[in-house]
Amino acid sequence: MKQKTLPLLLAITMAWSLSAQEIVISEARYMTGDNPAWKSAGIDDSGWATLDVTREWTYQGVDNENGYGWYRINLTIPSSMKKADSLKKAFVIDLGFVDDSDETFLNGKLVGKIGTMPCDPEGYEGKYNSPRRYLVSPSLVRWDKENVISVRVYNGGDPGGIFGGPIKLRMASLADITDISFKEGENTCRISVSSPYKLKGTLCLEGKDLETGETIDGGSTKAAGIDIPYEKGRQIQWTATFTDSKTGLTASRTFIPKYILTPEAPKAPRYNGPLAFGVRPGSPIIFRLPFSGERPMTFSADGLPEGATLDTRSGILGGKVSKAGDYRITLTAANAHGTVRQTFTLKVGQKIALTPPMGWNSWNCWGLAVSQERVMSSAAAILNKGLADYGYSYINVDDAWQADERNADGSIACNDRFPDMKGLADWLHSKGLKLGIYSSPGDRTCGSYLGSLDHEKQDIETYNAWGVDYLKYDWCGYSREFAKSADKSVAAYVRPYLKMEEYLRAQPRDIFYSLCQYGMADVWKWGHAVDANSWRTTGDITDTWESLYDIGFVRQAELYPYSQPGHWNDPDMLIVGKLGWSANLRDTRLTPDEQYTHISLWALLAANLLIGCDVSQMDDFTVSLLCNNEVNAVNQDLLGQQAKPVIVDGDIQVWARPLADGGTAIGIFNLSSTVKNVNIGKYLRELGVSGTVRDLWRQKDVSADDRLTAPHGVVLLKVKK
Ligand code: GLA
Repeated sequence: MKQKTLPLLLAITMAWSLSAQEIVISEARYMTGDNPAWKSAGIDDSGWATLDVTREWTYQGVDNENGYGWYRINLTIPSSMKKADSLKKAFVIDLGFVDDSDETFLNGKLVGKIGTMPCDPEGYEGKYNSPRRYLVSPSLVRWDKENVISVRVYNGGDPGGIFGGPIKLRMASLADITDISFKEGENTCRISVSSPYKLKGTLCLEGKDLETGETIDGGSTKAAGIDIPYEKGRQIQWTATFTDSKTGLTASRTFIPKYILTPEAPKAPRYNGPLAFGVRPGSPIIFRLPFSGERPMTFSADGLPEGATLDTRSGILGGKVSKAGDYRITLTAANAHGTVRQTFTLKVGQKIALTPPMGWNSWNCWGLAVSQERVMSSAAAILNKGLADYGYSYINVDDAWQADERNADGSIACNDRFPDMKGLADWLHSKGLKLGIYSSPGDRTCGSYLGSLDHEKQDIETYNAWGVDYLKYDWCGYSREFAKSADKSVAAYVRPYLKMEEYLRAQPRDIFYSLCQYGMADVWKWGHAVDANSWRTTGDITDTWESLYDIGFVRQAELYPYSQPGHWNDPDMLIVGKLGWSANLRDTRLTPDEQYTHISLWALLAANLLIGCDVSQMDDFTVSLLCNNEVNAVNQDLLGQQAKPVIVDGDIQVWARPLADGGTAIGIFNLSSTVKNVNIGKYLRELGVSGTVRDLWRQKDVSADDRLTAPHGVVLLKVKK
C-alpha cells in the first residue's frame, strides 16, 4: 500500500473547505484492516495513510480486495451552520457512494449503515450503487469542537472504498428531509409526500405537456398525497412543490411519468429482425424468425439451401449447411390478418454476429442469486411477451452457475441451482432461443466462482456438449495470474483471450465470443484479432444517469472506428425494467426519458442489446422500449457502423450513423437537467442531411420543427434518402 503521511494541520486544510454552510471533504485518513476501536474519537490516526475519498482505494495503490478498511475524518464543525438553518431538524453526512458496504459513525455512534458485511448474521451483501446520504440528529454533533467521522468499509471484490464524492456535510434542507414520490396506476398517478420529521404543509401540482406545450393544473392538497390524471401516451412534466407551513420553505421535484411512444404492432405479420444471419459451414442454425402478429402464424421459405430447415409452425430456421455462400431466401408469414413476404440472406461463411446480439443476461437482475428456474422464467417471458418476435434470442447465464469443485476428471460442474444445464440448452433450442454462459480466464470469477484457468479446452468442450451458444469471458481472477509476470505489454492482455479463442472456434457450433475486461489495453484495437464478437469497453454499468452518461456518451465517443459486423463494442447490458443485482429486485432508477435515451443510444452505437431485468415482471412501458421495430432496425442495420457525436452544442449532443439503405439515423440528446427547445431543422442543416424526417419512437414522418425535449431526453430520427 502507498502510505502518504502528512502533518495533521496540512492534511486538514487540504482535505476540506467550508462554503455556503457546507463542508466539502476530499481526503480522509485510511487504514486497511478492522478494529472496533477505530470508530471512536481520541484514536491517534496520524500514522494512517491519506486517501482521496472521491475515488475507490483500489485506484490509489491500496490492494484490499475482499477485506475491511477504515476511513477517519477529524474536523471542527462550526455552530454557525446550525444558526443559519431555520429547520434545525437534521445534520447531513453525504459520503457519495461506498464500494461495497459501510457502517458510518459520528463521534463513535453508528449513524448509518448500507449493505452488510461477512461478520453480520445475514452474511455479506454489497450495495456499491446506493447513495450514502445519512441524516443525523444535530445533538450528536460537537459544535465548535473536534468531531470524528469514521467509516468502516467492507469490499467484497475490486474496486473498493468510498467514491463518487466529495463528502459533504451540511444542515438538512427541506429537500433533504422530504421525500416526494410518484407512482403510476392505470389512469391516475399518485403523488405522495413524506418525511421522518412529521412536517405539515401544502403540496401543489402543475404539469406541462411536452408535445403540445399546454399547461395543466394538477391541484393542491394539505394531505400526504394526491392523484393526478395519467394517460400512458402523453409526455407530461409535473412539478410537485411542498411548502412547509412552519417555515414557509419549499421543496420541489419534477418528474415525467412513464409514457409510451411505440405504436402497437399490427395484428398482421410483420418482420422485425435483421436482414441477414451468419452461420459457419456445418454449424447448427438456430434462428427464430422474428415476426410479430397474432398467432397462430404459419411460415414458409423459398430458396433455402440444402441442409437448412424451417419449422412451418414455429418459424424456427434450423439444420446445417455445409456449403459456404450467400443464400437469398424469401420468407413468408401468414395469419388470419394477412400474409407478408420478406427477403433475407443466410450467409454461410466464417463470419457470425453480422448484427449485434440481442437477448437477456441474468447479472443486472439476479446477480449471484441466479438459478435455472429464474433463467427459464425470463426466457419464457421473452417468448410470451413477444420479445422473441423482435429478435431477442440469447439467454445468457452470468456468474454463479458453477459448483464449488470440479468433477473428478477435472470437468466443470454446475451448482445445485442449475440441476440440468444441457436440459436448459435443449429447451431453449426447441424454442429457437440460444444459451449463453459465463467464465473467467482466471482461477476464479468476479463472484469468486470457479474460472477456466488451465481448464480452457475442457471447459469449452463441456459447453459445446451442453449446447452453449455464447461465452462471456470475464478477466477478474486472471488479475492474479497477470500480477505474477512483469510482462504488461498488450500481448499479455491478449494472451488469455487468444488461448480460449483457439479452443472455442474449434467447436462444431457457433459460439458468440464476448470479452469482458473493461476496456483494458484498448481492447477495441485488438478484440477482432482474437476473433471476439464483442468486447466490453468499460467497467460495469449501473442504473443511474451518471453511469449511463459516462459509459454511453463519454467513453464510446471515440470508439466508432473499431466496431464492425461480427465484432462489436459492448458498452454493457441494459438497465431498464426491474433490476437489483441480487434476489431483491426494484424498478430501474432511470427516468423514462433516460430510458429512451439509453435505448436510442445503444441502437445508434450498434451495441449488444442484452436485457438486464427480470422479463417475467416486465411492464408494458419497458416492452414498448425494447420492441420498437424501427428503433431496433438502427441497431441491427447491416452496415454495422457505430454512431459518432457529430455536433456538440452546449448540453445538446447530436450523434449520427449512416444506414445500409442510404438513410441516416440521428439522435439529438438533451444532456441537461432541464427541458430544452431543440431546433431539429438547424441540426439537420448543420449535418447536411435532407429528405423525409421520421420520428423513430413515434414511427411517423415529422416536420423539422422545434421540439421540447425532456431532461436527459432524446429525439431519435431517421432521415430517409
Ligand atoms: C463483472 C462483470 C459483470 C458481471 C460480474 C459477475 O463485474 O463486469 O458484467 O459479469 O463480473 O461477477
